[in-house]
Amino acid sequence: MTGPATRPHQLCPPFDQLDALERLRVMATIPGRAAVTLDPASVAAAKVDGLEIVDPEGVPIARFAADQITEGGAHGLPEWLGSPSPRPYERLYLSPAQVRSSVSDDALTVVVDRRLLRKDVAEIRAIRAGRPVLLLVLCGPTMSPYTRGVKLLRRSIEVAKGLPDARVVAAPLDPRIAAADPELQDEVVSAYAPGAVAWLDEHTTSLPGTQTMQGTGGSGGLVLFFTGLSGSGKSTVARAVRETILEEDGRPVSILDGDIVRRHLSAGLSFSPQDRETNIRRIGWVAAEIAYHGGIAICSPIAPYDSTRQAVRAMTADRGGDFVLVHVSTPVNECARRDRKGLYAKAQAGEITDFTGVSAPYEAPHDAELNLDTSAMSVEEARDQVVTLLRERGHISDPHQPDWMI
Ligand code: ADX
Repeated sequence: MTGPATRPHQLCPPFDQLDALERLRVMATIPGRAAVTLDPASVAAAKVDGLEIVDPEGVPIARFAADQITEGGAHGLPEWLGSPSPRPYERLYLSPAQVRSSVSDDALTVVVDRRLLRKDVAEIRAIRAGRPVLLLVLCGPTMSPYTRGVKLLRRSIEVAKGLPDARVVAAPLDPRIAAADPELQDEVVSAYAPGAVAWLDEHTTSLPGTQTMQGTGGSGGLVLFFTGLSGSGKSTVARAVRETILEEDGRPVSILDGDIVRRHLSAGLSFSPQDRETNIRRIGWVAAEIAYHGGIAICSPIAPYDSTRQAVRAMTADRGGDFVLVHVSTPVNECARRDRKGLYAKAQAGEITDFTGVSAPYEAPHDAELNLDTSAMSVEEARDQVVTLLRERGHISDPHQPDWMI
């Protein structure tokens, strides 16, 4: 009699590891390091039944046998099960072997790890000396819907159209990972490049008025995140800032206010630590998505936990947005004195439990870009401080500067 068939341990690794696997597949060289790193629980499970890697849509892409698993992770070449779900520009993700068989040996490979500028194109024209040009775009994380690689590829295709005998190939390597691991970068580039290799010079310095924007490869989007106690003045200042942006700049602004979000996106969530965390992560996810598309998201929840706020900062950075944390630090006594919603009185009477500042904690940020105590300043003053900061960071155009200077 046979027992029930055992199923391998299934795992969808983080995006950077999926890219490492993809490199393993297209380059077919076995790296010294683990192909996939694993936590102890996954190691224990995979050592028994092997490991099946799935992509974010749940498509199985690779399987490691039980004897390929050690404490560090999964080693060697897996059995390939299928192609991962297609990415934007999938047709440009060729293997080094495909590139070498279709590009002549004298081609000049230009490694594209940032947006190509006009001066780069001039430089390529100057140094190519009649050779075919291969624009090797470092993309990644390639399966993330937020990858900057898509923008790099779009721009590179546009550039290639204007250069005779030039083509674009995508390599599954995040430029940030490449920058941090030159050895890996060299390994990937030399696998793809049929001959000579040229590198772009350093990232350009920002253009005036666009410090955090296009010049540095960011999305130009912004997450302006107010944190503070209930009644501290977050929503009031947030609204005032929005009005100024709309009047002076005209860029669309989305407001993600704590009370409003809890009626819609987070309806049904409680004020337990777990639900507060879920609430803030949802707000952060939406805000980072808005910033990714170049928009401005203004968030004003209590967000009492430092680690959750930091997670939102990281999510925003990951999608190319700028994150600005404003601590509205109005003291609890003043919030309770205002008590516009009558909630402090109820909390003090024990009618509401887990009330932030009364019976639940608030961790004051140590990484705020700005601190505003609305018991010591007017709404207009608070608004002006935020607006000045946003102007300095290039998010609102200066009304005194003519358009042609920006
Ligand atoms: S958070 O902690 O998850 O960030 P959020 O900003 O969404 O909180 O919601 C806070 C608002 O919910 C407060 O402004 C207040 O009107 C209301 N509220 C109701 N119960 C509580 C509670 N126990 N603690 C804090 N706010 C509460």
